[in-house]
Amino acid sequence: MIMSKPSGQRLQAAALPDFVLRQFDRHSSEHDHRQLYRILQTGIRESVLPAGLKLLPTRVLAQVLGIARNTVVHVYEQLALEGYVQADVGRGTFVAAAGPRLVDRARRTPGTAAPMRRVWLSQRGNRLVQEAGASQLQWGAFTPGVPEVRMFPAQVWTRLQARAWRAATPQQLSYATGPGDADLRAAVTDYLQGTRGVVCTPEQVVITSGTQQSLQLVAQLLADPGDAVWLEDPGYWGARSVFRAMGLHLEPVGVDGEGLAPTPEQLQRPPRAMFVSPSHQYPTGALMSHGRRRQLLEYAAVHGVWVIEDDYDSEFRYGARPLPALQGLDEQGRVVYLGTFSKTLFPAMRLAYLVLPPDLVDSFARALNELFREGQPLQQAVLARFLAEGHYASHIRRMRAVYGARHDALIHAIDRHFGSRLPVIGGDAGLHLVLGLPRDVDDQALAQQVLRAGVATRPLSLYHLVQPASSKGLLLGYGAVREEEIASNFALLAKAVQGLL
Ligand SMILES: Cc1ncc(COP(=O)(O)O)c(C=O)c1O
Repeated sequence: MIMSKPSGQRLQAAALPDFVLRQFDRHSSEHDHRQLYRILQTGIRESVLPAGLKLLPTRVLAQVLGIARNTVVHVYEQLALEGYVQADVGRGTFVAAAGPRLVDRARRTPGTAAPMRRVWLSQRGNRLVQEAGASQLQWGAFTPGVPEVRMFPAQVWTRLQARAWRAATPQQLSYATGPGDADLRAAVTDYLQGTRGVVCTPEQVVITSGTQQSLQLVAQLLADPGDAVWLEDPGYWGARSVFRAMGLHLEPVGVDGEGLAPTPEQLQRPPRAMFVSPSHQYPTGALMSHGRRRQLLEYAAVHGVWVIEDDYDSEFRYGARPLPALQGLDEQGRVVYLGTFSKTLFPAMRLAYLVLPPDLVDSFARALNELFREGQPLQQAVLARFLAEGHYASHIRRMRAVYGARHDALIHAIDRHFGSRLPVIGGDAGLHLVLGLPRDVDDQALAQQVLRAGVATRPLSLYHLVQPASSKGLLLGYGAVREEEIASNFALLAKAVQGLL
């Protein structure tokens, strides 16, 4: 029910100011109205602000935030119009029993009372929306997978961008036609050869607008609906969503300390493709051993399986040097290598790359143009300069030190609160670690509880395909939180966790 009355049980508004205050930034360039709307909407959609919760009176919330009361009034009105909250005359405004569904919200206009039903979506569309894995929170302590975007060298970028615009060709402003900017493909090749042991020429590189798009191309071009694909379990929700949306059959494969670990029965049924993150298994952080790499490549070569290697954040390894990419060991042309600039630079850049066996490149470039009319050639040219002039390498060096310090601060905080009572999983690389929890803990409920205190984490069980999940924990990202803010944020989290142990 979309507009049902809030339940009889009234919840107090006490949780609200804390939740809003922690996220509301008075100095943000985002308009107050937009910001408050977004925060409340997200809170309701993620059930951090539960059904029945009474919102603060507009006057009080305006005072708490130091903004105009009218702004709050308009936000409440908008949320009411969209079915997120209900005004109960004389009593206040309450979070509605169930937030509006995506499809309803998209199709409703003010004044149309009857909501559209979900039947408008295809079965796979429905499933995609129902089982969507992306969090609506993408910034703040301890959001996993988000890098420190505030330290991006914007001045350098602006200078390169101005230069690129002065020299812009009509082709760079028209529809793109090929596999991407030639200079960027060459710079990516140099970088991958020098740092990741990838064996390729620039002709094998195709620029995309993100790993998600790379995966979509892979699924479209290398598999048919119904084909089986092995997915690490636990594993990356983004791959799961794309493959499922493309109609592939998802086969969960367990992960041990050496990476993907198919059972003997699974090995009897070779899939069309397997998706792996060997350099930093997502989310457990396991590093695939050399022996396992060899076995998988041999298996793939014998059975004609595509190996999709997601190498998303291996630049950041604290201590040991990163292990070279699986692609570099592949002698049979079975590996499709996926890289991204989302972690090394910033996610909103939406630029990534595929390194393909040579005879796949033309088809991928053609499909890319056909399906997506790939854009941003000028941005690609700027990025090519950024790499060629050494800014990329120095930014990564600088960020490795920053993340290393944050990583240490988080480990220290965990140690202070829990000692060896809770295991830290995958804590020596990347931008996140997993705080392991006992199997009987409801990590999803815990993550909600922690979020109410203003700390964003992701429950490990959400990354499992096989439910009930075999492991529990919280993913803690340290990319988007300053070193000096780690202890205080972790203390908030620890309080909630301690109550469960
Ligand atoms: C495992 C994994 N691979 C790849 C990516 C990068 O995706 P994109 O390039 O679409 O930003 C992410 C981002 O969260 C990730 O967690």
